Amino acid sequence: MKVTVIGTGYVGLVTGTCLAEFGFEVTCVDKDKAKIDNLHKGIIPIYEPGLDRLVETNQNKKRLFFTTDLREAVAKADVVFIAVGTPSDPETGRADMQYVHAVAKEVAVNLEGYTVLVTKSTVPVGTVRVVTKLVQEANPSAEFEVVSNPEFLREGSAIEDFMRPNRIVIGCDTKRAEAVMRELYRPLYLLETPMLFTNPESSELIKYAANAFLATKIAFINQMADLCEECGADVQAISKGMGLDHRIGSKFLHAGPGYGGSCFPKDTLALLQTGKDFNAEPTIVRAVVAANDERKRDMARKIIKACGGSVRDKKIAILGLTFKPNTDDMRDSPSLDIIPDLQRAGASIAAFDPQGLKEAQEHFTNIEYGQDAYDVMQNADALVIITEWNEFRALDLEKVKSLLKIPTIVDLRNVYPISEIEKQGLTYHSIGRTALDPSCDTVIKSA
Ligand code: UDX
Repeated sequence: MKVTVIGTGYVGLVTGTCLAEFGFEVTCVDKDKAKIDNLHKGIIPIYEPGLDRLVETNQNKKRLFFTTDLREAVAKADVVFIAVGTPSDPETGRADMQYVHAVAKEVAVNLEGYTVLVTKSTVPVGTVRVVTKLVQEANPSAEFEVVSNPEFLREGSAIEDFMRPNRIVIGCDTKRAEAVMRELYRPLYLLETPMLFTNPESSELIKYAANAFLATKIAFINQMADLCEECGADVQAISKGMGLDHRIGSKFLHAGPGYGGSCFPKDTLALLQTGKDFNAEPTIVRAVVAANDERKRDMARKIIKACGGSVRDKKIAILGLTFKPNTDDMRDSPSLDIIPDLQRAGASIAAFDPQGLKEAQEHFTNIEYGQDAYDVMQNADALVIITEWNEFRALDLEKVKSLLKIPTIVDLRNVYPISEIEKQGLTYHSIGRTALDPSCDTVIKSA
């Protein structure tokens, strides 16, 4: 089976590479010639652990090809994935479909023989029907079917998520298209991956519903953290106590500075628009979006409070700029709110991130960037952990104390046990557990 993937962004590149790893012949198409030239040289446009090695192996085995020639790639394909961007409209939050629509029309006129077109980008409910109509109009004799197959890839573990998914969701109308999609994902049968076949509308909505629900869990636990700080409870105990209930589950209950990234902020807004379109707005999601926006703004206030009420003329050392570890992605990262707020309050910023420094330079001004975690701490008035990269989880606390002018740590990811930090004589401010008795740390860890 020959597969063509249009768009070599995050989703397209991971999808194409992993399908090549399954053994299919895959051609990835992009308009951006520089990107394709780089991919030929093994230069990957994003940071995703393991992707470079997989691209290289599959290119060498002549299963993975990169081209700017959409025409030829589509003509020979049995399956064409549409994986181009659907950015948020800055005014409305609605997914901007111009790239998907343009690709649909271009694909249409180049189809040869029965072809399944798969929408892989996160697209609003109804897109399969719209793309079907566009293709029919552009090429009335085309033999094709459009299928929805949303991705559930987490940045930083996208390859694992593709190779060992919790489930595959496919929205299609006919047995013929279903058979093609079953064949495509046959390599996952051995793992007994559940495959859910449903209609296109349900498949499209599943993606939004799943992401909005996960965002809701995070916003909920963040509000519980605020309550914990006021009433003397501990949010990690709350997460554990809730998560042990199988109906709730323990995942996505880590309190932090608010969710960011390429999906949750965008997908929650797009879901609200879909709700409006169908006159059935999910008001819970509206509350989640508002709570998360507020949360990100609150983090600077929390840091300022930890610094004694003012950061004017103080140096703040920041560890972690990306929205989560193991990515260089800064999209909607909490750091984008926190750092400018601190700067407006008069602070100077020294920051380090293992992969995000290049991207960060496009977003921030007047920041001093360090070579490593310790580099930025020199003479700082406080250390703030925004992203929980592994290398920030076991800092040499004695060294940290000796470098900081004022030994204060604000940990927005609850990386350290309170007792361990306070033993070193550092003042520690974390999320939702300020009132915790050190002995409780042990109880939670041993549970
Ligand atoms: C998400 C979905 O998980 C994935 O299925 C989807 O297809 C794309 O969007 P991703 O954005 O890569 O993946 O990251 P994820 O690990 O889900 O984290 C999203 C945000 O939530 C991050 O900012 C993270 O720090 C935050 N988060 C996550 C929390 O604050 N607490 C948690 O418990 C989990």
